[in-house]
Amino acid sequence: MTTRYRVELPFVLNAQPAAPHDGVGNEALDKMARTARQRYAEIFRDVEALISDHTLEDAFLVQDAARAISSRRFVAPSFNDIRLILNTAQLLSLIRPKAAPMSLSNGLPPRSQIQLLTFDGDVTLYEDGASLHSPEANPVINRLLHFLSVDVRIAIVTAAGYTQPQNYFNRLSGLLLAVKESTTLTSKQKSNLVVMGGESNYLLVFDDTAEHCLRYTHRRNWILDVMYTWTEEAIQSLLDIAETAFESCIKTLHLQAKVLRKERAVGIYAADQSIKLNREQLEETVLVVQQVVESSLSSTPRPAHSHIPFTVFNGGADVFLDVGDKSLGVQACQKWFGGIQPSSTLHVGDQFLSGGGNDFKARSACCCAWIASPTETIALLDEMIALTSPAKDMH
Ligand code: IMP
Ligand code: MG
Repeated sequence: MTTRYRVELPFVLNAQPAAPHDGVGNEALDKMARTARQRYAEIFRDVEALISDHTLEDAFLVQDAARAISSRRFVAPSFNDIRLILNTAQLLSLIRPKAAPMSLSNGLPPRSQIQLLTFDGDVTLYEDGASLHSPEANPVINRLLHFLSVDVRIAIVTAAGYTQPQNYFNRLSGLLLAVKESTTLTSKQKSNLVVMGGESNYLLVFDDTAEHCLRYTHRRNWILDVMYTWTEEAIQSLLDIAETAFESCIKTLHLQAKVLRKERAVGIYAADQSIKLNREQLEETVLVVQQVVESSLSSTPRPAHSHIPFTVFNGGADVFLDVGDKSLGVQACQKWFGGIQPSSTLHVGDQFLSGGGNDFKARSACCCAWIASPTETIALLDEMIALTSPAKDMH
């Protein structure tokens, strides 16, 4: 396979060593096994449901028509083929009414049950480290405007954690200005666009009277019940442990990297932008920091941060530990929009590897589509639009 998903993550990730590692007690090993069993069972259950629904077969036929999978003579169905078939199966089960045939005899397009679309930022809406400049440069913008115009809520749920609206404006100006200047969207539809930053830490709502088109929303107005117990002391305790682990990786792996400590995150990035951190360094750092923080949870007395969920992920050029995760970020958006169900929410992202991906966590809060580039995101959105309104031209 040729995409970035051909990552040779070690098979031992979910396996248990015969003897516990230093600092990893039996309790932690049992927990790992329970989590792995639950994950595998969920995957088999989902695949089973898709098969009994005939959705998977139909999805294969759609992707086969697009990718000529069955016409290939030498290359077998690949990881990417399967990923795209599963994305289509997800869309069909969200949009097509149960048991309806592919071509509907009454000629009416099926109704979508999607009420909330959430998007990752880097690699999903724009190239890694890039921005949304304009509808001409970033054709995804017109698709997003289309979904707002049919009353779908849109949340950009990104790891990028900033307290200032200007930082998000710098990344999203093309989208924000297009929404602001739209004469067809109502103000209600415009306010259906939000940004959830730092995985689940900062909520900003579109507001065309605000300086940067975004209004920072105080946490007391949107946080989930579980977040009330995240005291400042607990958060700093988590970030302290992670920072020490990052420092130790820099030493052990001879990384030319600097540590960046933020209000709700800590991470490393290349000290010299011309010398990139390589994939092995990034992935080893993710796994070490993850293990160090997890080990700290079984120490006695229990540390202050033992109840705080966190995400460690490889951002492609950096590694971050964030307080919270995208599951909570998506749930907070569902709550903000009045209680949207997981079955009416679709998250689109690029990081779904169980070790080292931050979109992976969103799986427990909603339906998901796994894309590998901004171009694939556009293709996915066009597939959705075609399923519900076949005549629409987005160009
Ligand atoms: P995402 O793909 O939209 O989730 O954004 C991930 C990228 O955001 C990371 O690779 C970092 O380069 C960048 N970033 C900026 N601030 C933060 C932070 O506080 N936590 C995690 N990532 C951050
Ligand atoms: Mg991403």
